[in-house]
Amino acid sequence: MSATRSIYMDHAATTPCDPRVVEAMLPYFTEKFGNPGSRNHRFGWEAEEAVDEAREKVAALLGADPKEIIFTSGSTEGNNLAIKGAASIYERAPAGSAGRGHIITATHEHKATLDPCKRLQKEGFDVTFLEPPRDGVITAEMVRGAMREDTILVSIMWANNEIGTINEVPEIGALCHDRGVIFHTDATQWAGKMPTDVEEAKVDLLTLSGHKLYGPKGVGALYVRRRKPRVRLQAMIDGGGQERGFRSGTLNVTGIVGLGKACEIAAAEMGADGARLLALRRRLEQGVTSRLEVTQVNGHAERRLPHIANISFGFVEGESLMMAVKEIACSSGSACTSASLEPSYVLKALGVGDELAHSSLRLSLGRWTTEADVDFAVEKIVTSVLKLRELSPLYDMYKEGIDLSKVEWAHH
Ligand SMILES: Cc1ncc(COP(=O)(O)O)c(C=O)c1O
Repeated sequence: MSATRSIYMDHAATTPCDPRVVEAMLPYFTEKFGNPGSRNHRFGWEAEEAVDEAREKVAALLGADPKEIIFTSGSTEGNNLAIKGAASIYERAPAGSAGRGHIITATHEHKATLDPCKRLQKEGFDVTFLEPPRDGVITAEMVRGAMREDTILVSIMWANNEIGTINEVPEIGALCHDRGVIFHTDATQWAGKMPTDVEEAKVDLLTLSGHKLYGPKGVGALYVRRRKPRVRLQAMIDGGGQERGFRSGTLNVTGIVGLGKACEIAAAEMGADGARLLALRRRLEQGVTSRLEVTQVNGHAERRLPHIANISFGFVEGESLMMAVKEIACSSGSACTSASLEPSYVLKALGVGDELAHSSLRLSLGRWTTEADVDFAVEKIVTSVLKLRELSPLYDMYKEGIDLSKVEWAHH
């Protein structure tokens, strides 16, 4: 049996650890194993020093002060702490209302933002879920239109994890600062890939995660602004008072060292990496769309992360497509819920129909993706889609020029 090739194009789900990150982490498992909370011996000091150094590296990636960085277990925790933590500090009822304040987010945010917002809704906050336009970009104008007297918090991601679209974050930041509203951005897919300056973008709270930027899993950071304004948060985890009381628990020193190293590498290499990835993504998208009709690239044509391509293929069935391209490790436009395959809610929010959402692929490239990988993927996708379409009576009808929207289907 010939070995089947398998190429990884799911870097938006997780990235491999950079070997330089692993190397930096190793001593902190064994000889440098101290608890940074141990204040009276060398082991503790050594660990504390390593955490301080990592904090500086994370801060440098964001244009922040090291004191503004809180280490977390990743972006799910970071978003929860930012959103729920800010809501419970800044809650305010408008005159004559029983509400606790108004929050703005968008329907195509990650679940790690949507679910905390939904919980707050149940607890008496009013939440506006902005509906994105077809191109997926949330603009400052949309946020401005939703702002109210009692708006306390806006949470809009910097870039979307399924389609890679880039929201108008600096413009939304400026608007929020003008109105005295706290602004959180989930930068999980953005940070380490694109230049980030929390001052310029007027972001108050920013979430990032190690395993999306070639660092380890289970570690992340939350940026919490300390000046103009000094942002306060209600802690979610109480205990020993680590991380200035924002997040108790013995620090994950190895993970934090890895995250710091990953941020340092990202800061140095993102320019070259980004340019290379953009060229590869274009090669991939053009390779596929130039050879296949009834195919669409989802999301804004330009305002998109360099490494994420999301493509829908008409006249193929989603599960068959995933099976046919199984040598490519990527994500489909379907999400498994307990009982069924649901079309991606992100693509649906953009107005992509259920059928087309199911037959979509998210291909996300990374630091070690090569041109040969891309060419392999293009060939595999094109030949698979052509083959599947040969079996599609609908595609035959389409080819014959029958307007499928006018066909009256028999219902059973
Ligand atoms: C945009 C976004 N936010 C949050 C998360 C959750 O991050 P973590 O896996 O670090 O909890 C992810 C990861 O899938 C993501 O892509």
